[in-house]
Amino acid sequence: MSARDVQAVILVGGKGTRLRPLTLSAPKPMLPVAGLPFLQHLLSRIAAAGINDVVLGTAFQPQVFEDYFGDGSKLGIKIRYVHETEPLGTGGGIRNVYDSLTADTVMVFNGDVLSGADLDALIETHDSSGADVTLQLFRVADPRAFGSVPTDETGRVTAFLEKTQDPPTDQINAGCYVFKRSIIGDIPSGREVSVEREVFPQLLASGKHIQGHVDNGYWRDMGTPEDFVRGSSDLVRGIAPSPALPGDRGESLVHEGAGVAPGALLIGGSVVGRGAEIGARARLDGAVIFDGAVVEAGAVIERSIIGFGVRVGPRALIRDGVIGDGAEIGARCELLRGARVWPGVTLPDGGVRFSSDV
Ligand code: GDD
Ligand code: MG
Repeated sequence: MSARDVQAVILVGGKGTRLRPLTLSAPKPMLPVAGLPFLQHLLSRIAAAGINDVVLGTAFQPQVFEDYFGDGSKLGIKIRYVHETEPLGTGGGIRNVYDSLTADTVMVFNGDVLSGADLDALIETHDSSGADVTLQLFRVADPRAFGSVPTDETGRVTAFLEKTQDPPTDQINAGCYVFKRSIIGDIPSGREVSVEREVFPQLLASGKHIQGHVDNGYWRDMGTPEDFVRGSSDLVRGIAPSPALPGDRGESLVHEGAGVAPGALLIGGSVVGRGAEIGARARLDGAVIFDGAVVEAGAVIERSIIGFGVRVGPRALIRDGVIGDGAEIGARCELLRGARVWPGVTLPDGGVRFSSDV
């Protein structure tokens, strides 16, 4: 079987709470990463693999997706949208698109994973093992935030343990599955279902064959500010692959219409959005600056996300922070270690400091 015979489903209905306040105004998969909505990197990867029929399972701000991607023709694929009026969870979201599925083999993606995994190899494992479901797996240093998926010596999945404190293996669910279509039809409909906590454990309990396929490529869930910043930086620098970006990439990315004053330093895979302004001697290291933001002279931004239209005053310091759309950060403010500023909030000059040497 080739990828052309496979349909893709992408789950994009989560609320993205860990990326608030940015996800109050836009769904997580639509936040810009290296100048494009995150989802466009994933769609390009699916298209590059030869899959041209994609269904998006939406629950939160569905119109934003449709307004941007339309019928998919600009990306050379067909995109349809199936909406959940109440969020149905990951399993319920997959079941909810069942009526749009015609292919016998369906690839399901979490909509927030940046990866270079080989989709053909996953389909090949699914085919040759004859499994009912095949899970892409990946090894991570700390599996506690993920689904831990032990396998036997043939690669067959023996258990699925979602986010436990004592995971049995560092092999985790990478958020990309191949399903036999009939298995999707068996998921209960019309109610919330978790694919991780309910569907996979029940399939295993009833003796269904779930196969694991370990991939060693690039992999990152973009769901937290730290991972979002890191993934964006990796895309800018070419460490993370994306068919939507040119092959030769550099240390930073400045979009059209943006202004960077002389003496400003942009390193660490920083990205500057359209129409943004970076002042003289500002220092951006691993910074994600959304469209229209202004960073004034001498400000320092490290590993932080600066929302649409934010103004960062002169000599302010933002390190490991998230600044919501339209906020104003006064001159010399210091925001460190996970600080989050809500949209539209104004911090006066010198209004927040983390150190006593004022
Ligand atoms: N349609 C729909 N409806 N989509 C949903 C819903 C829903 O009710 N809830 C979540 N999603 C989507 C999210 O938008 C996201 O793309 C995907 O499902 C996964 O949700 P996350 O909230 O990002 O889950 P996670 O990162 O905590 O954990 C999942 O991903 C890990 C890998 O990145 C699990 O699948 C873990 O087992 C896995 O290891
Ligand atoms: Mg996630």
